[in-house]
Amino acid sequence: MTAMADRDVRVYEVGPRDGLQNEAAPIPTDAKLRFIDLLADAGLLEIEATSFVSPRAIPQLADADDLMRSLDRRPGVRYPVLVPNVRGMERAEAVEAGAVCVFTAASEEFTRANINMSIAESIDAFRPVIARARGLGWWTRGYVSTAFGCPYQGEVGEAAVVAVAQELVKLGIDELSIGDTIGVAGPGDVRRVVHALDAAGIGVDRLAMHFHDTRGTALANVATALELGVRCFDASTGGTGGCPYAPGAAGNLATEDLVYLLEREGLAHGIDLDALLVAARHVSETLGRPLATKVGQAGGWRLP
Ligand code: COA
Ligand code: ZN
Repeated sequence: MTAMADRDVRVYEVGPRDGLQNEAAPIPTDAKLRFIDLLADAGLLEIEATSFVSPRAIPQLADADDLMRSLDRRPGVRYPVLVPNVRGMERAEAVEAGAVCVFTAASEEFTRANINMSIAESIDAFRPVIARARGLGWWTRGYVSTAFGCPYQGEVGEAAVVAVAQELVKLGIDELSIGDTIGVAGPGDVRRVVHALDAAGIGVDRLAMHFHDTRGTALANVATALELGVRCFDASTGGTGGCPYAPGAAGNLATEDLVYLLEREGLAHGIDLDALLVAARHVSETLGRPLATKVGQAGGWRLP
């Protein structure tokens, strides 16, 4: 298994969190733990494990404290957790999470629906969280959701993305994940947003891109972002995903589809596709649904 520094592209797995958070039927904690283990077996070094949010907001992740306590954490693997406020940070500290993500958005209405704050209030809520995390030497990430479109407001301009991104950077966050929460972007939108961020002094080295494949554009967007120099992508093994506060959002870009593309592009990613497909099948069995991802169905390319 290769270390992070030997990889050309970082594949940031969001399956256990973004992938499962919107599932209505409760998933046993053991099945989530097994999923995370299988992901680590496949070579993933960044596995977003769960969220320390209100259990009423996201009932599926109400087992977050138990899950983090029971997790077999492997050396060299990061298991970030979502934290919306100081209360969440206290829970993350109690389990020594080591990496936290705060999350806001580029549109006011989504931010209100998702975390019951204005964008400005969210930044104020994150300030003490990030200060504490940095004081502990933890890795930090900030999500900018609805960066390409909002389920309530419609089109989102790049100026709104830049404005919130700059506020997050000022907090001292290590990485920004720019999210197409409802899966509406095309490659031209990716260029527009990445260029606007770059012009504002936020270069691709600080960026991850987070695509949902609602309308089948996720891989095209990844290919464009790769050309622009982005080197971190969020993806969900098994292609699950969605947010209860983002009506119309479908699954995340599937990790297996992303990994196949990276392989064909000759970019080192450190992931064993066959082992990843074991994790994908575990998800589909857990959810009782057939595996619907492209590479999940076709497998990798075995030469005749
Ligand atoms: N962990 C656990 N419980 C929390 C919490 C946290 N980090 N923060 C707040 N709560 C609890 C409060 O104790 C309160 O519980 P009670 O009603 O039983 O007394 C309840 O949640 C509401 O708290 P309040 O401070 O009034 O916040 P709110 O109602 O304005 O909700 C958030 C704000 C951020 C806590 C909530 O909207 C949330 O958790 N959102 C997460 C959404 C999400 O994860 N979306 C998907 C990711 S994009
Ligand atoms: Zn998402």
